[in-house]
Amino acid sequence: MARAVSVRAHGRKPAHWSQACSAAALAFGGCAGPQSSLDPSGDEAGRVAELFWLMCAGGAAILALVLGIALYATYGKSRPHGERFAHGFVVVAGILLPILVLAGLLVHGLSLMVRARAPADPGLRIAVSGEEFWFRVAYERPGQGPVESANEIRLPVGRRVELALTSPDVIHSFWLPALAGKMDMIPGRTNRLVIEATRPGTFRGACAEFCGSSHALMAFTAVAMEPADYEAWLAREAAPAAARDAAAFLRNGCGACHAVRGTEAVSQVGPDLTHLAARPTIGAGLMANTPENLRRFVAEVDRLKPGARMPGFRMLPAGELDAIVAYLGRLR
Ligand code: CUA
Repeated sequence: MARAVSVRAHGRKPAHWSQACSAAALAFGGCAGPQSSLDPSGDEAGRVAELFWLMCAGGAAILALVLGIALYATYGKSRPHGERFAHGFVVVAGILLPILVLAGLLVHGLSLMVRARAPADPGLRIAVSGEEFWFRVAYERPGQGPVESANEIRLPVGRRVELALTSPDVIHSFWLPALAGKMDMIPGRTNRLVIEATRPGTFRGACAEFCGSSHALMAFTAVAMEPADYEAWLAREAAPAAARDAAAFLRNGCGACHAVRGTEAVSQVGPDLTHLAARPTIGAGLMANTPENLRRFVAEVDRLKPGARMPGFRMLPAGELDAIVAYLGRLR
């Protein structure tokens, strides 16, 4: 009987295998890229991926074992086993095996977590706050004031950076899957996530906790750079805006919510725009940073990003809108 089954199964094997392989290739094709925890470029993400693959392999082995026993019970055994064997089987496969497997997994998982609690390198701390619906970023520097930015996080490769995560309004969740695990951003509390990029690159992160109508439009870019490049970048980012002619920006009230360091605009309500033109995206990962998109964003933010606190400025005369967009485009 068992032989007949195996022959029948064997007869269908080629078609099933090729279909399964095609499906797996399609599924795993989506595992690479700048926002994948299965394509890790960070210390913690590497350990998360390791645990994932271990659990996948273990789960597959246990599934194969259970299916084998089920097939054996269905086709392979014509007479019942003795009571002694049945009891022994329940004790070994039903009690001892789960205890050993789960205890082993727990010990391994805890050992992977130990390094996540290790301290960051001195002087590397970035405060990140989840806002509705964008990320406020401040690079803390020992002995100097913080460098304010938004929706982009730069990291030196091979250095452990502490992210201090919080929120002033509702709960958000900081998730940069290619570099680390997920961490909630909770009002009234600062959560700590230590992150270490293991190779240079540009990655995408997003809010991973439903926080309002534009939750799905709340993303950020992370750029891992060689430490010397990072230091040079931070020095440039700390400098005030070099762009001239902020008049249209200021007379239309943009400074009531935004800061551009080096000008009269100092408000902290919305994202800091001092070096906006150097960021790859606008609107918290919403669109590429191009003049056309900037113009659309300023005029129609209420339509593009429901629930955002910024009103759409479509009522501005075209010349004023053009002047504001041109100024924003010069904020390198
Ligand atoms: Cu912020 Cu979802």
